[in-house]
Amino acid sequence: METLYWKNNTLHLLDQTKLPHKIEYVECNTYQDTITAIKTMIVRGAPAIGVTAAYAMALAEIKEENLEKAATEIKQARPTAVNLFWAVDKVLTETKNGKTAVETAKQMEKDDITINKKIGQYGNTIIDKNDTILTHCNAGALACAGYGTALGVIRAAHEDNKNINVICDETRPVLQGARLSVFEMQQENIPVRLIVDGAAGHMMQKGEINKVIIGADRVAKGGVANKIGSLMVALAAKRYNIPFYVAAPISTFDFEHNIFDTTIEQRNPEEVLKINNEYITKKETKVENPAFDIVESDLITGIITEEGIKKAL
Ligand code: MRU
Repeated sequence: METLYWKNNTLHLLDQTKLPHKIEYVECNTYQDTITAIKTMIVRGAPAIGVTAAYAMALAEIKEENLEKAATEIKQARPTAVNLFWAVDKVLTETKNGKTAVETAKQMEKDDITINKKIGQYGNTIIDKNDTILTHCNAGALACAGYGTALGVIRAAHEDNKNINVICDETRPVLQGARLSVFEMQQENIPVRLIVDGAAGHMMQKGEINKVIIGADRVAKGGVANKIGSLMVALAAKRYNIPFYVAAPISTFDFEHNIFDTTIEQRNPEEVLKINNEYITKKETKVENPAFDIVESDLITGIITEEGIKKAL
């Protein structure tokens, strides 16, 4: 199952809002369709958003639209994942060097999988036999062009017969852990258990978790931005001396800003007010719905990249 594919000048995106119950692809024929798909989280996860944004530029090129204008609009789709900005800028630079946007996007899709496999190889070196690994959100094949970053490390350890077990936080409100990470693990026959977000500390206290590995939307001086709830997991891991790793490609690194300059996306309150389209509280209830938080560098054991395992910036 592919997260995305390009065929007949159309971008096909696996509709992640329907997973795991329905496997449906959405067609994007214009860059505006693609922006809507990113905003509505049909496609999500930092590297997947980056590759999708590159294909959005390809659609703009095919329709002979102004690429600079398209770039500005695409960059407004979601604010936190640095890969979106990186990908759009890379396409712009490459077109100036004479490469088409489609060529660049295809190359980025291919590179993403190669990079994730390298992250998997480096990450596998820190996994011990029989480890139980906690992950938060979905940093898997579905969050990338394929293979995954945090789940790529888990895949590599499983392929290496390390007899690992995985625990997924459900990851309210969009439930990427319950709907996507659990699904990916089940597809690979990797033993997996699902917990509610609030259970992570309890499982650590009981000694049931040996390592934590999460993905990242942005790595910068001072820490890492990732899905809301990552900070609480990191704090609990520190309390119980559990190694806390981040797996991310270099394209997720922002060397220009401090991590606290990151714009934290605030999403629709309805995501919190409802479960399965039903209100779980009075609909006039005031809501805060930050989609990401920041894990400070001192809480991070290491950042697993395609260039090796680095210290947090
Ligand atoms: O809101 P999402 O689903 O796009 O958030 C995704 C995450 O937080 C992932 O952990 C991150 O993008 C890394 S994906 C390899």
